[in-house]
Amino acid sequence: MATADTNKIALITGANKGIGFEITKQLAQKGIHVLLGSRDEARGKKAVEQLTVENLPVSLIIIDVTNQSTIDAAVNEVTNKYGHLDILINNSGVYAKEPRPSELTIDDIRHNFDVNFFGAFSVTKAFLPLIRKSTAGRIVNVSSGLSSFHFHESQANCFFHLAYSASKTSLNMLTYQLAQELKKTTIKVNACTPGLTATDLTNFHGHSVEIGAKSSVFLATLPDDGPTGKYFDENCQEHPW
Ligand SMILES: NC(=O)c1ccc[n+]([C@@H]2O[C@H](COP(=O)([O-])OP(=O)(O)OC[C@H]3O[C@@H](n4cnc5c(N)ncnc54)[C@H](OP(=O)(O)O)[C@@H]3O)[C@@H](O)[C@H]2O)c1
Repeated sequence: MATADTNKIALITGANKGIGFEITKQLAQKGIHVLLGSRDEARGKKAVEQLTVENLPVSLIIIDVTNQSTIDAAVNEVTNKYGHLDILINNSGVYAKEPRPSELTIDDIRHNFDVNFFGAFSVTKAFLPLIRKSTAGRIVNVSSGLSSFHFHESQANCFFHLAYSASKTSLNMLTYQLAQELKKTTIKVNACTPGLTATDLTNFHGHSVEIGAKSSVFLATLPDDGPTGKYFDENCQEHPW
């Protein structure tokens, strides 16, 4: 049985467009109050308006995952308004076409790690005290098929994504280790890939955002006896790391 969803509070980072926007919509359609994270106020407001006209319970929260003061301000806002957080989805991410590993610059690698790993870590660390106040906290890290050694070993010549892949592999390790640390609590921490999804990030190649959002929504609404410390594919099936 899924846990009851009404009165739950969720926060999705990078939700002003793409997969994060669709996750927001699907969770709000379940009656969950969703805080739509955006680093840009105007883009965030526009996204919130698109959902509130459909009477969905969504409000804007400003978070740039690379800017600690915006994260701290968001924590204060959630503390004052709600006193707890039930669902955190670390969805913000960057990807750019990369050269082969030997041609990458340290700045390329840092940029990917800043958003995809350090950003998710900073947001998770800052919100964990509020998630501990939930009766059934769920942390979902939106990773990627490219994070997976299993995937890379099954492909020939897949060596054009080192910065992005490594940042997401690190996110997987955060998922696994935090899940182990929190094993005796009611908090579940899992990672997923949306699969190749048609968004700005892929120049609109891949399946629909409805499909891309599925695994995150599944993990955000796991029942109390659901898994923790695992990685799921776009069909919500457990997948090797
Ligand atoms: N699309 C795919 O095929 C695919 C496959 C595997 C994994 N993923 C992962 O899925 C997640 C969502 O990607 P998407 O495809 O929906 O991409 P997208 O449409 O480009 O959306 C990315 C989101 O992240 C936000 N973002 C970027 N830097 C940020 C920062 N410093 N602080 C806060 N937010 C920031 C963007 O905000 P702005 O609008 O302000 O830039 C945007 O809202 C990412 O983690 C990505 O790695 C995507």
